[in-house]
Amino acid sequence: MQKQSPIGVFDSGYGGLTVLKEIVSQLPQYDYLYLGDNARAPYGNRSFDTVYHYTLQCVQWFFDQGCSLVILACNTASAKALRTIQQNDLPKMAPGKRVLGVIRPTAEVIGTFSETMNVGVLATNGTVVSESYPMEIAKFYPGLKVYQEACPMWVPLIESNEHTSNGADYFVKKHLHAIFEKGPTIDVILLACTHYPLLKEKIIEYLPVGVKLISQGEIVAEGLVDYLKRHPEMEGQCSKNGDRQFYTTDSTEDFDNHAATFYGEAVSSKHADLGV
Ligand code: DGL
Repeated sequence: MQKQSPIGVFDSGYGGLTVLKEIVSQLPQYDYLYLGDNARAPYGNRSFDTVYHYTLQCVQWFFDQGCSLVILACNTASAKALRTIQQNDLPKMAPGKRVLGVIRPTAEVIGTFSETMNVGVLATNGTVVSESYPMEIAKFYPGLKVYQEACPMWVPLIESNEHTSNGADYFVKKHLHAIFEKGPTIDVILLACTHYPLLKEKIIEYLPVGVKLISQGEIVAEGLVDYLKRHPEMEGQCSKNGDRQFYTTDSTEDFDNHAATFYGEAVSSKHADLGV
């Protein structure tokens, strides 16, 4: 029998479930293990060091559960922790295992959506300050101009289930207005936080006509399909029983009550004991 080695999918909270949903729909045959570090979310306003330490601890947890491949389905963790984990930690802690993020697959394709080559990136404070998007996008589309806007209230609104309330309109309008002031010819808005698809309906209401709204779920899922094709040695290690398991570092009851909004179906989670 094949050793259980689910693909790990990580987020600070619920946002990564929007990515997992797309991954599962494109690659249903694999086993998946989701971890939300809800006890310490949101990560968006935390320091580099803190996000790095939290993320590394969660990556180690995935490895302890038998995962060979872990996706950081969180832009903040991808921006602040991924490179150090890949370059410094993995060679020591688990040289045969892999950790991937969501920024590179998004940067690889974002230019194909834009005609004006002016793209707006909405993200957490941490992702914006890291400059990861402008740097990664420049590698693939050197002529593309990236405008960034941090939306620090959006994740707290979503995590506290206030994203459909009238109060949320204020914060949506505020940041859309700000980003179009910076880049009036932006024709693509990228939701560079895996929580933000929950605000999609409100964002569309205030988006100028003709501007495309891009979220990352499908892009990351397509990137994973491609990665597994190009890395048969990794693909061969991922177990395929169609199994899904959900873990949270906080209350499983809260997780189960909120998760369906992000994942699209009910889940039954277990507690991950990371000592937090
Ligand atoms: N979902 C995470 C992201 O994609 C961030 C949420 C947080 O602030 O923790 O950036």
